[in-house]
Amino acid sequence: MAAPATDYLAQYDAATDGEKFPLVYRWMVEEPLPFFKTLREQRPILVTPECTLVTRFDDVCEVLLLPTIFTVALYKPKMADGIYLMAHDDDALHTREKSLMQALLNRDELPSVRAMVADIGKKILDQSGTSIEVVNDFCRTVPATLVQDYFGLNGIDKKELIEWSYWSQYDTFHNQPFDPISAEQKRNIEERHDQTGKLLNKFITELIVRRSLALGLENANVVRRLWLKLRIGLRLLMGKPHDATLRDDIVTRMLRTSFPDAMDFDIKRLGVNAGGLLIGAIETTSQAVAQALQYLLQHPELLEQAKIAAAREDTHAFDGIVWEALRFVPIASYLFRKTSSAYIAANGTDYATTIPSGSYVLALTQSAMFDARAFANPEEFIPDRNWYHYFHFGFGSHECLGKYIGMVMIPEMIRQVLLRPGIQGLGTIDYKDGPFPENYQLTWH
Ligand code: HEM
Repeated sequence: MAAPATDYLAQYDAATDGEKFPLVYRWMVEEPLPFFKTLREQRPILVTPECTLVTRFDDVCEVLLLPTIFTVALYKPKMADGIYLMAHDDDALHTREKSLMQALLNRDELPSVRAMVADIGKKILDQSGTSIEVVNDFCRTVPATLVQDYFGLNGIDKKELIEWSYWSQYDTFHNQPFDPISAEQKRNIEERHDQTGKLLNKFITELIVRRSLALGLENANVVRRLWLKLRIGLRLLMGKPHDATLRDDIVTRMLRTSFPDAMDFDIKRLGVNAGGLLIGAIETTSQAVAQALQYLLQHPELLEQAKIAAAREDTHAFDGIVWEALRFVPIASYLFRKTSSAYIAANGTDYATTIPSGSYVLALTQSAMFDARAFANPEEFIPDRNWYHYFHFGFGSHECLGKYIGMVMIPEMIRQVLLRPGIQGLGTIDYKDGPFPENYQLTWH
């Protein structure tokens, strides 16, 4: 039976060292909000034998703003000893590759990305009649289609893309030393990640060869290329949109751009970053959409508000409802880091705490999103809160590369579902004992 909120710390203190973290982990999963509230009020930084929990808004920000002290070392073994920018802390590779990728994902295109998401989502729902198993057939399929059509990772079954993102996310975010799963489960997740990682590498290599050949042919045909460019130029001069006669997606854009050797962004680095786009996009979006959708469907008064906002052309109010829903059901309640040196957190306060070098630290972002310091009346559902205080896409130097895409993709997907008349959930999300939503039936008329 769940412990009354006031008992958490008494139970924790009475537990043996071996029992402490499993107890904490259980509360984090089963009753996060009252547990986090108790910690924020009574023990804002809790040092357990396995991990240190940081709960208040200011301290979570501090942890996430000091990347070479609170490092992403735990990502390294999950990414071939740090092949991807995400496993690098404030170094040359991280700065260079993240900023290049941010520029390639041109934010000016977000309205057309949103329109693309709306179109993909609407088609799926139209074809589904009046019911859908929304996790696989929508929450995963829409971002996988965007990965093909906008990022340009095409020529492959969406199911493969979904599988590759799934195992990478599973191993990276839910197979860490502090995750309470058996050694056999750990091995199985690692093996699946390893197998799917090899398939992804093979696919990316073939994609680059295929696309480079196509671009080579396009370049070789100088007259056709000049004609196409002239046509695009004329359309733009006449105020008409680019008609995309010349292929353009992110991978194509990467291959069309030639970087001098001094920039260290050769074809191998290009491939690694193309793979990163896929890994980041699918399972995160799926989980966020499924959970926020269920939250709204389970709260009739919010559902009504959301439906009214969904029908408006201006999506600002609708998006605010989605971000607020996600505060109650985020894709994770924490981001994890490992300290590279000892650090006094919350220095100068009456709960200043020395976190030893080599500690695992859980920055409890969900707890920070219920700290009254930044979220007035935190228990209330208030849709037009200050966007900058949310942690849905991380914070600091590792803030999500796909943030702006996620910011249009997630609410637009939910909007398309809520626009179906009489929409309702049949039962609840089935996680099948894993960390991600796996099955959720919806119906409408
Ligand atoms: C749309 C495509 C997406 C791509 C390409 C993408 C990619 C990435 C990358 C590369 C990073 C690491 C950045 C760094 O280390 O500097 C990252 C971080 C992050 N992403 Fe995304 N992501 C996407 C979507 C999402 C979505 C939908 C969510 C949540 C709803 C999300 C949540 C996060 C979070 C919380 C972090 C921070 C991780 C940390 O600080 O350790 N991402 N993402």
